[in-house]
Amino acid sequence: MGIKKTVSVLGLGRMGSALATALVDQDYEVTVWNRTPKTLPGAKSVATPEEAFDADVVVTCLSTYDVQKPLLTNKIKTLVNLTSGTPQDARATAEWAKSNGVEYVDGVIMAVPQQIGTKQARILYSGQPEHHVLEAFGEPVHVGEDAGLAALYDLALLGIMWSTFGGYLQAQALIQTAGITAQQFTPLATDWLATVGTFLPEMGEQTAHRNYETDVSALDINVEGLRLLTRASEEQGLDTTVPKALHDLFRRAQSNGHGAHSIASVIEEIR
Ligand SMILES: NC(=O)c1ccc[n+]([C@@H]2O[C@H](COP(=O)([O-])OP(=O)(O)OC[C@H]3O[C@@H](n4cnc5c(N)ncnc54)[C@H](OP(=O)(O)O)[C@@H]3O)[C@@H](O)[C@H]2O)c1
Repeated sequence: MGIKKTVSVLGLGRMGSALATALVDQDYEVTVWNRTPKTLPGAKSVATPEEAFDADVVVTCLSTYDVQKPLLTNKIKTLVNLTSGTPQDARATAEWAKSNGVEYVDGVIMAVPQQIGTKQARILYSGQPEHHVLEAFGEPVHVGEDAGLAALYDLALLGIMWSTFGGYLQAQALIQTAGITAQQFTPLATDWLATVGTFLPEMGEQTAHRNYETDVSALDINVEGLRLLTRASEEQGLDTTVPKALHDLFRRAQSNGHGAHSIASVIEEIR
């Protein structure tokens, strides 16, 4: 067995603390830095980021790129960037790393802190190939050489999550107006989500081939359904931002000639 690399973690928020703990648990020699001084069992705390840059690998997990950018210097040997950003943010950091002689891995964490260190935590990463420290955090998946790809996947997947949560919360608000409890409704919602998931491969195919023929469900009836959901929410005195936004989008696709097509045709409006 080879000697493990020394690793520093910048940022001991909810996620950074979980990452640093996972490294300690995997017997890495860990140094940590946080703006608000903090200690972490098994790790050495330092007062400035510079003191953390002696390590073989520096892992960053800060709230934003704006916070992170001024902290980075060419003293870093290998940067594993786990701060969330856009693909452009990641590519700019990769360029910076290249011109400063810093090895660069850009990663995103598809998990919550409580899952770090387990196989459920998928770490999508792009840029330079595999880095063992990522294995301490979960299941690393290399998504490509382009440093922006991990961030692109991240935002695409989170977009699905946020839209789903928006729809679920609208549904809970609506259901609860009739005195139905969250506990009564949730099992039906999770079953329904599993069914909805089975529609995605066919929908994806249609978006790829731009062929929206359907014998399942036409956009016309879905526009009408969204109008009903908006009206039902209004009738109950609820906010209508979520159904209205979808209704507007779907209706625009309908008026642009997709009424008889499948819901997948809405992508033409998005594009
Ligand atoms: N939490 C999750 O479930 C999750 C999941 C996937 C990805 N992520 C990503 O992980 C990153 C960190 O998230 P988190 O949940 O750990 O956030 P958090 O708990 O709010 O921690 C934010 C970290 O950023 C530091 N920070 C904020 N402003 C700063 C500044 N001006 N200068 C220096 N440090 C500053 C904080 O330091 P202080 O302690 O001094 O405030 C703290 O260490 C984000 O990019 C997030 O998108 C989080």
